[in-house]
Amino acid sequence: MLGSDIIYHWSGIDDRWWYFVVTEDTKSVLRKRQIFCHCGDAQLPITLFTLASMGRSMLICKILVSVLLITSCNKSKSSKEPSIIPAPVELNIQNGVFEINENTSLILPESCNLKIVSDYLIELTGYSINETTNPSDNAIVFQLDERGKNEYLLSVDPKQITVSGGSCQALLYGMQTLRQLLLQNQNHQIPALTIVDGPRFEWRGLLLDCSRHFMEVDFVKRYIDLLALYKMNVLHWHLTEDQGWRIEIDKYPKLTSIGAWRDDGKGGKYGGYYTKENIREVVAYAEERGVTVVPEIELPGHSQAALASYPNLSCTGGPFEVETEWGVFKEIYCAGNDSTFIFLEDVLTEVIELFPSEYIHIGGDEVPKFRWEHCEKCQRRVKEQNLHDEHELQSYFIGRVGAFLETKGKKMIGWDEILEGGLPDGAIVQSWRGFDGAKAAVNQGHHAIMSPTSHAYFDYGLNDIDMEKVYNFDPIPPEISQEEAQLILGGECNMWSERAPQPKIDSKVFPRMLAMAEVLWGTSKNYSEFRSRVADHYTLLDQLGVNYGFEKIPVQTSTQIRNRKLFAVLESYDPTFKIHYSVNDEQQTYYEPVMIEEPQKWSITFERGGTSFRDTIMQAFHPHLANGLIPEYAYKWNANYPAGGETALTDGQRGSHQFRDGNWQGFWGNDIEVTIDLGAPTKIQELSSGYLQYNNAWIFYPTDVTYKVSLDGEIFEELGVIKNQKYPEDKKEATQSYTLRLKDVVETRYVKLIANNIGECPEWHDAAGSKAWLFIDEFSVSL
Ligand code: ACM
Ligand code: ZN
Repeated sequence: MLGSDIIYHWSGIDDRWWYFVVTEDTKSVLRKRQIFCHCGDAQLPITLFTLASMGRSMLICKILVSVLLITSCNKSKSSKEPSIIPAPVELNIQNGVFEINENTSLILPESCNLKIVSDYLIELTGYSINETTNPSDNAIVFQLDERGKNEYLLSVDPKQITVSGGSCQALLYGMQTLRQLLLQNQNHQIPALTIVDGPRFEWRGLLLDCSRHFMEVDFVKRYIDLLALYKMNVLHWHLTEDQGWRIEIDKYPKLTSIGAWRDDGKGGKYGGYYTKENIREVVAYAEERGVTVVPEIELPGHSQAALASYPNLSCTGGPFEVETEWGVFKEIYCAGNDSTFIFLEDVLTEVIELFPSEYIHIGGDEVPKFRWEHCEKCQRRVKEQNLHDEHELQSYFIGRVGAFLETKGKKMIGWDEILEGGLPDGAIVQSWRGFDGAKAAVNQGHHAIMSPTSHAYFDYGLNDIDMEKVYNFDPIPPEISQEEAQLILGGECNMWSERAPQPKIDSKVFPRMLAMAEVLWGTSKNYSEFRSRVADHYTLLDQLGVNYGFEKIPVQTSTQIRNRKLFAVLESYDPTFKIHYSVNDEQQTYYEPVMIEEPQKWSITFERGGTSFRDTIMQAFHPHLANGLIPEYAYKWNANYPAGGETALTDGQRGSHQFRDGNWQGFWGNDIEVTIDLGAPTKIQELSSGYLQYNNAWIFYPTDVTYKVSLDGEIFEELGVIKNQKYPEDKKEATQSYTLRLKDVVETRYVKLIANNIGECPEWHDAAGSKAWLFIDEFSVSL
């Protein structure tokens, strides 16, 4: 540029170069200089000011850089590159902005109830925007047109905003895009742009489990609003469980007087339920926002709260308590008892009156058949109906309920277990145990909804499912035909709440749900580009009071071995997080790998922005003579629990009490036999290995562990056997070290451990006879 100066400035704030052009306005009498802020290829005048000399202007420029960088240039970013999630199918930015002010008017089509649009605009701008019927300048116009049912066009120019949609629902999608744009701009300005948009999948849902933990009506409504913001359109409301019945049914008042409350373990009761009035309020709130509420009434399993209320519906007659533990329980509705079906039809009749949804979810998952196998009435039913087994009895049960729903004009959805024993006509399968359920369903010409545990279980920790994993979710199961793919309705994220009471839900759902929203909208492409939009959305979520969690494990711990010394390493995916660790209550800030000279336990905390996260991460580090060596395995670990693979047992990082923490290596049904070559004859006096037990997950301590040593790797001498000191019946997740301390030092080159698996889950266990797991972490060798 002729007659201009360019100042370059590296911004540590957003890691990029900025340049400022100082030009002379020759028309002015005074020497005026105008500063343009360049951000990418956008150019934005920041300010005009008068200067006496170039030298001073340079100085002022530099001062202004830091002040203006965030405000003006970020404004330029948001006005030029709005961050919309899910990404629209097509987005074109034009010049200029539309500014909403007190003169802005609103035109809505008569055939849609879009009161929510003016509510949103008032909430976002503070202006009470008048509804009118005459298009004029400075108007926001919503109109129906001929495009696809769920598609909309959003066109913004400096004079008018137009949202055209193929349906009232599509107009709501357009409104949510506008809402995101307004939430990103404090000045009620929307950049001129054109968006052409519409979803790939028609079913984009979130399951909220309000049974394991009760959630308040306002909380549920808030979630509906958040779903709508991200163009998700289904709230799958999990309303009945072993641990609580949450929906008022007039004909069966004990369902809520008894079934909604469980012992809280402190002499009181925990629970709650939704009155019919509550439910009508939630459904109406959702309807206004284009969200369908699909109720789930679990049957024949996960029904212990109902059986505690009405034990005559069970095989044994009870009595039962509302369950207080988490898991799968054998008390289920009796399939041989006609009063069970009368009860369920009565309940569903009242449910249907409350929910306009075309779909009713009947659960159908995790149904132990033990009671049916031993129940005279159930066995009579098997005979009468010419059924082969209890799986077919389950199919009979589900089919009978499905037929009833059909008479009411409703479609039935069930978890993928409803495939067992034959899929009832018209049933929709929600595939959760991987993709196979969906494959089988579409193979048989049925619709399916995808929520596999691998990508969609938001109760799982970030160890298992982080935001990137969700973003890489392909809802179309592999190896199905194009025709079958058309039967995949979409997907859901499942927010089971066993370990997530209401205050924890935000941090589990966000930001992962943003990834799911984009996957199901069908515009997911580039993860790093998506992440940069998510970063913008944290500001939005802050404004909405969402207590979002993390994109992945906020602080990853690992170890390095350098010159046979163990170093602890802490890393965060976001370099702005500040990490602290304490050993023996002495807190330090982490900057670089720290050498570990003796076993120690670190408490790790971190800060994001100005907020400290007090959810301490505990990690034990254990230096020993075998650190970093690669053991030889007689039997391979199970692919689902590899931990760190071949260095899992020697990395000096010890597993916690959580079997999914990434440190525990799992073996299913077999023993563990591991040999380590210390490289040269080495003096040792102690051999130790750690194990985890969690019998709910079929994981048991080894019956015993044998340690052996050898100088040549051929002939091994047994040093001792350590027997299990704990009961397999202990319910809690716990760990135990099997340590052999020798009286005398021995010199050896090879060390071996053999840990014996209990084999099968014992007779008293719910999964008696199934292969048991053995979980090990660290095989330490010390002097
Ligand atoms: C399920 O997670 N049991 C559907
Ligand atoms: Zn029975």
